[in-house]
Amino acid sequence: MRDPRFDPLFQPLQIGPVTAPNRFWQVPHCTGMGNQHPASLAAMRGVKAEGGWGVVNSEYCSIHPSSDDTPAPYASLWDDGDTANMAAMADAVHAHGALAGVELWHGGGRSANVLSRQPSLGPESILSATAPWQNQTMDRQDIKALRDWHRAAALRARAAGFDVVYVYAAHTYLLAQFLDPVLNRRPDAYGGSFDNRTRLIRELLEDTRDAIGDRAAIAIRIEVTDEDGGNQTARAEFLGRIAPLVDVFDVTIPDYGTEMGPSRFVKEAALETHIAHVRATTARPVVSVGRFTSPDTMLSQLRRGILDFIGAARPSIADPFLPAKIRDGRIDDIRECIGCNICYAHDGLGAPIRCTQNPTMGEEWRQGWHPERVPALIGQADPVLIVGAGPAGLEAAVTLARRGVPVVLAEAGEPGGRVTREARLPGLSEWNRVIDWRLGQLKKLPQVTVYPGSRMTAADIIDTGIRQVMLATGSLWRADGRGRSAPGGMASLADPRTRTPDQVLDGAVLSGDPVVIFDDEGYHIAAGLADLLASKGHAVSYVTPAGTVAEWTAYTVEQSRLQARLIRLGVTILTGQIVAGLGPGTALLDCAYTGRRTEIACGTLMPVTSREPQDGLWHDLQDAGLASLQRIGDARAPGLIAHAIHDAHGAARAHLTPLPPPKRERPVLGRQP
Ligand SMILES: Cc1cc2nc3c(=O)[nH]c(=O)nc-3n(C[C@H](O)[C@H](O)[C@H](O)COP(=O)(O)O)c2cc1C
Ligand code: SF4
Repeated sequence: MRDPRFDPLFQPLQIGPVTAPNRFWQVPHCTGMGNQHPASLAAMRGVKAEGGWGVVNSEYCSIHPSSDDTPAPYASLWDDGDTANMAAMADAVHAHGALAGVELWHGGGRSANVLSRQPSLGPESILSATAPWQNQTMDRQDIKALRDWHRAAALRARAAGFDVVYVYAAHTYLLAQFLDPVLNRRPDAYGGSFDNRTRLIRELLEDTRDAIGDRAAIAIRIEVTDEDGGNQTARAEFLGRIAPLVDVFDVTIPDYGTEMGPSRFVKEAALETHIAHVRATTARPVVSVGRFTSPDTMLSQLRRGILDFIGAARPSIADPFLPAKIRDGRIDDIRECIGCNICYAHDGLGAPIRCTQNPTMGEEWRQGWHPERVPALIGQADPVLIVGAGPAGLEAAVTLARRGVPVVLAEAGEPGGRVTREARLPGLSEWNRVIDWRLGQLKKLPQVTVYPGSRMTAADIIDTGIRQVMLATGSLWRADGRGRSAPGGMASLADPRTRTPDQVLDGAVLSGDPVVIFDDEGYHIAAGLADLLASKGHAVSYVTPAGTVAEWTAYTVEQSRLQARLIRLGVTILTGQIVAGLGPGTALLDCAYTGRRTEIACGTLMPVTSREPQDGLWHDLQDAGLASLQRIGDARAPGLIAHAIHDAHGAARAHLTPLPPPKRERPVLGRQP
């Protein structure tokens, strides 16, 4: 039973001609599925609705081929085929009593249109966000055509069954370009003054209302200031003016690094101070975001009149059943988002969405995985011994136990593994949720016994008499510098100045300053260590063959802030350089382009190059006659925490029950007779 305190979160609310069953609003978010994987998309959104989200929205949904974001997989409503595919999503959402929403999108000058090969459109001709070509400046005919396409897409959205249709005026796309005084200096009625710059938005709202306003709620996603953070008063006044055309306001800010903020830099409810004024200006329900995972924070937003709907993207990805868990009084079971942005990274990589915390995200259709249910093991379940209680070991233990399998979980130290270590980096304490949630679940699963402080040898494992064994023994950063730049390693292993990231995060004393950190990997560890050590007053040189600090974190929306932090902390940043070895008191650097050698002072070298799977037990037990022996997670293939959890989850589902191959969505050509 739920705590009645949370009742306000479950009050229905009418928006235009439809009624949202509660206050949980899954804001538009990409899935890396879009129009390429419609069955996967429908199944995933359906699970969100099943989990209690009262309104479940699509990702950005292109209205016309002149807005094509390939290779990013966007949704589209260009034709009847798209309508049929998007209807599958709306149906899946309706099946659980939720409202389905769609975010009609035109990218304007940002779209590169590499698939459609049409010139993009915009108020003025600007460079595409991702390519060295520009859009066509829209003339009156183009504006008329855009209005026609938008109206047609709204009608298709309605035909597909959507209950909420967004006019999308944020995130630097076409309508935001029209709003922007820097990008829109048109001399005609659509440019120049604020009134002119808002004209197209007003027209699209009117068109949409006219086309479908009697059957669907009209939402607008819009920023509360200009790109530079100014003009808030005029924008607020504008929101008030368009309120008669709008049924719900989804408001945000131009700083995507805060809106989509990683937990390293941005905490829960970070938008509140920016958007708190909106509700007083519009007289229409307001939704906004803030990586809301705490039911108390959600309630407080409603009670204090900040929001009418709790908007969420990542919290709904990490736990599609978040609303249902509040509803059922199971708050402890909420699997809280850790703010790592691995979900967003994979959209950027053009691949279906995944989540560090939720291994079933993106696998609902492909593998038939459900976030709350795993099939029970059929027949007599022998116990499984899992060695290692890092993320993989804990996930395997939880999933096996839910299948009804008795589990013995042995850990050499304390549970947590690499997560405990990485969470010691500046800003990453929320990553501990990966471990805390799983330990919390294990407490409720009596068939699991956890033995911390139990380092197991092969003989110990055999002595337990347990014949089903999973090894989740993780991986350790290599000391020998093996990596992309030096596949054979460099001669630093024997040098007493070398420290690995694991040693430093476990408290090893450095051999002296300056510390040279060689980032040959590109994710966050090297930059995080530079931040940690520089914050403690060490002189740090960060060396990378890449062009920027922590290059891969561009996908997780962390790169520019990480680089800014290191600059502010006085870290010496050397890009395009490879650490080739050590000299007396120095590190030897080779230019990544010319090979020219230089030297820099070095008291401690920390290679962040690659990791060694800790799979010694797996080798030792090959001939032990066990019924089953598996490596899982980093012990199998070092990767992201998300990889480790997904691998462990899959292994636990497949335990004694081989899984069918994942389904694929692609056209299959028939043979001509
Ligand atoms: C994977 C991912 C994809 C997103 N794609 C979109 C999108 O297509 N359209 C949009 O308006 N916002 C998009 N967003 C932004 C979210 O709607 C939301 O504003 C942001 O994630 C902050 O909310 P949260 O803290 O609840 O995650 C995306 C966010 C994520 C995590
Ligand atoms: S991948 Fe990370 S940021 Fe995204 S929803 Fe999952 S836990 Fe949250």
